[in-house]
Amino acid sequence: MRRKLIVGNWKMNGSVAANAVLLNELKAGAAKQHCDIAVCVPFPYLAQCQNELVYTNIAWGAQDVSAHNIGPHTGEVATRMLLDFECSCVIVGHSERRCYHHEDDDLVANKAQRALAGGLTPIVCVGETLAEREAGETAAVVSRQLDAVLSVLEPEEATKIIVAYEPVWAIGTGKNATPGMAQEVHALLRARIGNKNKAASDSARILYGGSMKPDNAKELLGMPDIDGGLVGGASLKADDFLAIINCVVA
Ligand code: PGA
Repeated sequence: MRRKLIVGNWKMNGSVAANAVLLNELKAGAAKQHCDIAVCVPFPYLAQCQNELVYTNIAWGAQDVSAHNIGPHTGEVATRMLLDFECSCVIVGHSERRCYHHEDDDLVANKAQRALAGGLTPIVCVGETLAEREAGETAAVVSRQLDAVLSVLEPEEATKIIVAYEPVWAIGTGKNATPGMAQEVHALLRARIGNKNKAASDSARILYGGSMKPDNAKELLGMPDIDGGLVGGASLKADDFLAIINCVVA
């Protein structure tokens, strides 16, 4: 049985003062839950999360990581630096990185590989645009994106990644994929993982992201291959994020 995982993706939001309030509310509300919880925050707030969340049941991580380890890469942050702040996970290949920063499948794969090699769990994001869905290309696009990552990993490493299916048209739009649509893609992604490593297909956690909210989370999280959520907008309000977490029952 895969334990569910709810990850907040703060994107480029927050301030030291606002985070202090949000983190305190989360800590108070998340103490007794039936799922794993993490927040992925902007780099400058990792130290704050480390201070606030150590000894709690909320893990923390970053939203991107360099494919390099050290050297002349101005503006980049290495896995080993994230580990200095006791991050446990990092998002790679978010559609906002792919679309606005032109990150291709190879770069995303290298980032995932580098993170894993250093001991961080990559949350690998895949997802189709609206045009790709309407053209009937969803399966091809998400398979290509996931296979690029799997192709650079050893079979046993496939057990250590988390995948997030985030249809681009659902991110920040208020239009979520229906549970049925999401389940279909999740099942496909699980099968692709199984091609690399049969055991990993049972154990891998595949999250859904894209306008997950308190009012749709229960149904989405009830699908057999949806193992949690990658939550953007709703993770910025403690009440909403906790309401999603509360949808996971024992
Ligand atoms: P959203 O974002 O929940 O605001 O749609 C999800 C994400 O981008 O990870």
